Amino acid sequence: MNRLCILGTLSLCLLLASCGAKEEYKYLVGFSQCNLEEPWRQAMNAAVQNEAVNHPDMKIIYADAHQDNDEQVSQIRSFLTQKIDLLMVSPNEAAPLTPVVQEVYNSGIPVVVIDRAIVGDSYTCFVGGDNKEIGRKAGEFIAEILQGKGNIIEIKGLAGSPPAVDRSIPMREALSAYPDIKIIAEFEARWLRNEANQQFPSVLQANENINLVYAHNDPMAMGAYLAAQNVGREKDMLFIGVDGLPGPDGGAKMVLDGILTATFYYPNCGKEAVQIATKILNGETVEKNISLDTPVITRENAQQFYQP
Ligand code: FRU
Repeated sequence: MNRLCILGTLSLCLLLASCGAKEEYKYLVGFSQCNLEEPWRQAMNAAVQNEAVNHPDMKIIYADAHQDNDEQVSQIRSFLTQKIDLLMVSPNEAAPLTPVVQEVYNSGIPVVVIDRAIVGDSYTCFVGGDNKEIGRKAGEFIAEILQGKGNIIEIKGLAGSPPAVDRSIPMREALSAYPDIKIIAEFEARWLRNEANQQFPSVLQANENINLVYAHNDPMAMGAYLAAQNVGREKDMLFIGVDGLPGPDGGAKMVLDGILTATFYYPNCGKEAVQIATKILNGETVEKNISLDTPVITRENAQQFYQP
């Protein structure tokens, strides 16, 4: 009898414990980040974590794909086996990630795509900064600062990621009205500071007359700046980037320090993505495409964007 009693109490405890564990959260969310090496992406993850604190009914599991499409695909598949209720994803490249995102979406699991689009519209919501707008504004800014004349180098992000295309084509369209502004060289540095730093010396060597460097993000602008500094040429040209992170190593500080002439604030959308996910999980409807502002940061307003 005693043994029966003990056994009964034990199993009741186990049952309560397992119920407790289950009730800690209501929704399981998988967050697939394409690469956590870059400061902007670290800021996104931090924003997701900070906002998640306000939503205790949601548990977020994180994956970092190290800028590898195959790894990101298999991490998303592993989320599926863990039975996520919603997927948040910032895809490395659009085409290779589209089929798996489609698969998730078509299986009835809502998908929030962040910052880098996929191909087509198999997702619940896309949230990101307007990269075409950045490209257009960058072109206009360059034309103005160079007073319609000069030689430019364009340093591009990873070719298969949509922001690299969107930050380029509208910039070129805006500059097409200025025949004396020429893009004399371009190269792809895959969003990475080190790659820009390694490739820029040969561009410097091949081109004596460079007036401006437009990099698709601040780390690549910095990589190029350091390469120019290395041969004493950093004052001969202007540098423009994108991201405008607020911290001590971010773009706002680079503008304050005179390293960058300008950058475009690119919101990381981490907080917004969690808020959107909550709405979707609670059955609210959200807009399919949400675009956030990307103001230019120059010497005049950089202090407002800087948070030491
Ligand atoms: C980080 C990053 C940012 C850039 C964004 C574009 O991976 O390269 O610097 O603004 O991705 O998707």
